[in-house]
Amino acid sequence: PRIGIVVVAAGSGTRLGAGAPKAFVGIDGGSILRHALEGVFAAPAAQVVIVAPAGREGDAWSEALATAGDRRDLVSVVPGGETRQASVAAGLDALWADVEIVLVHDAARALTPPEVFERVVAAIDAGASGAIPVLPVIDTIKRVVADEIVAVVDRSELAAAQTPQGFRRDVLDAAYAAARAEFTDDAALVAEAGHAVAAVPGHPLAFKITTAADLDRARHLLAQPAP
Ligand code: CTP
Ligand code: MG
Repeated sequence: PRIGIVVVAAGSGTRLGAGAPKAFVGIDGGSILRHALEGVFAAPAAQVVIVAPAGREGDAWSEALATAGDRRDLVSVVPGGETRQASVAAGLDALWADVEIVLVHDAARALTPPEVFERVVAAIDAGASGAIPVLPVIDTIKRVVADEIVAVVDRSELAAAQTPQGFRRDVLDAAYAAARAEFTDDAALVAEAGHAVAAVPGHPLAFKITTAADLDRARHLLAQPAP
């Protein structure tokens, strides 16, 4: 396939504190990883690399077989690393030769709708080296140093970054090969390598399940009747 999706699911979920790797924590009858993969397999056809916690590759395969349908031949599972960046790098190593566009997606953004994947791919098809979904910042933001408000920050210039973050494969591979530090997301790593990254509209449902309150929100949303 022309598109590869790296689903990073190898984190431990320290802040969620559910006693299991976050990807395998249940939302309803299905785990966080299961719901994330449902979105991935509803998006445009792609090679899908699931980056699983080391030792839990079999459990990741089970979730893939439950969701991939006739796309199961497009799935690979690899073990992750100590950091998110190391896990993404492990996923990139498993991409097939024909992949030209790579989307890196957090399994923890389990309810991300397929349209977000489509918007990111469309931006790259239109010529961008990279594109990420963003949402406007709702709160008024202050710069605070030692209990003192030191600056007004112009909120109209700020946005919250989500995933899937998409890049031309050659750009992302080269940026990872050159990276000498840990970055908070792939867009920052690619920007450090000198490439412009475009913004496309994100989606409220692409929020990241980080804390117990986020998991409660996901449970509540899935319990709503379909619109
Ligand atoms: N991730 C990963 N490998 C790591 C760390 C994170 O694949 N070594 C993945 C997570 O599985 C998650 C995504 O990166 O899908 C975003 O990370 P985060 O929300 O921070 O998840 P955790 O690191 O698992 O959570 P915490 O930081 O609370 O431990
Ligand atoms: Mg983390």
